[in-house]
Amino acid sequence: MEEDRPRATILNVNDTPSVLYLTGRILTNAGYHVVEASSGKEALRLATGRPDMVLLDVHMPDIDGYEVCRRLRDQEETRDLLIAHLSAVSVRREDRLRGLAQGADAYWTTPLEDDELLANIEALLRLQARTQSAVSARDEFLSIAAHELRTPITALRLNLERLVHHLSRAPGDLIARGTVEASTTPALRQLVRLQQLLDTLLDISRVGSRKLRLHIEMFDLSEAARDMAQRLAMPARAAGVTLSLTLPERPTLILGDRLRLEQVISNLLTNAFRYGDAKPVLLEVEAQAEVLTLSVRDQGVGIAKEDQTRIFNRFERAAAASGTDGLGLGLFIAREIVSAHGGTLTVESEPGHGSRFLVTLPRHRTEAY
Ligand SMILES: Nc1ncnc2c1ncn2[C@@H]1O[C@H](COP(=O)(O)OP(=O)(O)OP(=O)(O)O)[C@@H](O)[C@H]1O
Ligand SMILES: [Mg+2]
Repeated sequence: MEEDRPRATILNVNDTPSVLYLTGRILTNAGYHVVEASSGKEALRLATGRPDMVLLDVHMPDIDGYEVCRRLRDQEETRDLLIAHLSAVSVRREDRLRGLAQGADAYWTTPLEDDELLANIEALLRLQARTQSAVSARDEFLSIAAHELRTPITALRLNLERLVHHLSRAPGDLIARGTVEASTTPALRQLVRLQQLLDTLLDISRVGSRKLRLHIEMFDLSEAARDMAQRLAMPARAAGVTLSLTLPERPTLILGDRLRLEQVISNLLTNAFRYGDAKPVLLEVEAQAEVLTLSVRDQGVGIAKEDQTRIFNRFERAAAASGTDGLGLGLFIAREIVSAHGGTLTVESEPGHGSRFLVTLPRHRTEAY
């Protein structure tokens, strides 16, 4: 066992004192924390202390192992316990199958060499650790997402409340256009933000379950870049950024999912506006023999070396980003989309001197989408 891992607790259940003792010693020597029970009843009681695993003898005089297992699965607090039956090889095949059918996670027959028993336990615990870490990643995701959704919802609500307030006090049902606009314009902006957040959340569940379907067509990447630059002119202005474009004269045709690649451009540009320190941003498309490249260069805060890999992971944001809003998902999704096209998304950056994000896409992809 690794030294720095907290010791797992194993509930060792057996009504034969010598077996209970021997198994207990193997486990203790291997570094586990062991709790012992010599009957089914005692096992049920001790299991509520939530051990990491229950090693459960099958034949016991009071309540047999199968029944103990069934009852543990029936109770909310012990439902997810890791349970392995341990029994003599003389047990019939049907009974072993019954054990698994009634909810055990493993069925091991003795005699079992010490190292084999320990290896089996380790493997089951590893499996459980993987499941638990997936569950906590999901919980963390939910909490970040809920937090992000709350900000625009609160602002939206305040704006609408203000409008209702003005309406209720408007003399003779008349309300000045400026007053209406002062509430509805930001409300609309908050709705757009909510919609973007929800779209991102949907994407993330698609990417996570590998359901990101590409709709492949032939299109001009430069044209898509020009399109996106136009569509994002407003946010660029709002960020105080001058956006310029450098595009090849000839069309840069590519087979790919136009909407998805536009999303990549949009994510990179939005980042450049957000972290670009109100300095000029350059969007460039270049055609090379085998690949097309698209890059977004800003002159903003830049990204520290140690953060340059991390920011492409789910939810990861560099320290300099604290205080600005965002789920930390844009680059993750962008890289997934680019990889699905057989391309790469990389970054070069120096803190204080801006960043350059580079998308490289194969022009003639041979693999099927
Ligand atoms: N152009 C950039 N300059 C400096 N830092 C950047 C730049 N682009 C991204 N980053 C850093 O990388 C992090 C991850 O970016 P990403 O786009 O994945 O998330 P986000 O912009 O924080 O949120 P989201 O895109 O989900 O709204 C950002 O939080 C920021 O710290
Ligand atoms: Mg982003």
